[in-house]
Amino acid sequence: MPKVRILNSKAGYNLAADYYASKEKYWDSFEKDKVLPMLGNLKSKKVLDVGAGTGRLALRMAKAEAEVTALDLSDEMLKKLKLKNQNLKLLTAIGDAENLAFADESFDIVVATFLIVHLKDLRGFFNEAYRVLKTGGLFLVTNINQRKAPAVKIKDGLVEIESYYHRPEAVVKLLEELAFSIKKNEFVKKGENWVNQIILASK
Ligand SMILES: C[S@@+](CC[C@H](N)C(=O)[O-])C[C@H]1O[C@@H](n2cnc3c(N)ncnc32)[C@H](O)[C@@H]1O
Repeated sequence: MPKVRILNSKAGYNLAADYYASKEKYWDSFEKDKVLPMLGNLKSKKVLDVGAGTGRLALRMAKAEAEVTALDLSDEMLKKLKLKNQNLKLLTAIGDAENLAFADESFDIVVATFLIVHLKDLRGFFNEAYRVLKTGGLFLVTNINQRKAPAVKIKDGLVEIESYYHRPEAVVKLLEELAFSIKKNEFVKKGENWVNQIILASK
């Protein structure tokens, strides 16, 4: 059995950026085109995409004329996003979900797709999302049903990126505890099993 190196998100995604970018269609299948419609009309909306990665969602939101800031820990993931960006109105920022370098009440919408699986404790990030959102602003977060991190093949071996499973009801409960109002809580299924939870909340 080849040895699998376990890495934190920054180191892991810096090495796995090519792999992640090559599988975007597969990641899309966990959302079944539900995410964008939930956000409504994006024209001129200030949107923060936290853990934006290769821009799978950020670029679509920018095409819908949102003013997107795409934030990620991994510069290699953001490099992929920048390569794909065709003159859209989009800013990128290196940063940490748990310590957002933005003023209070500065965004209409905060999104985080496939991010929380990499956060051990969600409270810090959720508090930060709440802080940077305007009153009435939307928070969309997805929660992949992943109990064991997959081994990802990179140039010189296999890596596993630190991941944590979050129970769907615990995620909703925490959002409510932190004063978000839940507007939607939907599950994408493959066969009988849910594979992804999509939550839309408001401040
Ligand atoms: C599975 S990818 C999701 C990328 C994109 N949101 C999507 O849906 O395709 C997770 C991303 O979250 C980033 N990430 C992980 N922990 C983070 C943190 N604490 N702050 C900011 N970004 C983080 C990783 O670098 C990676 O790009």
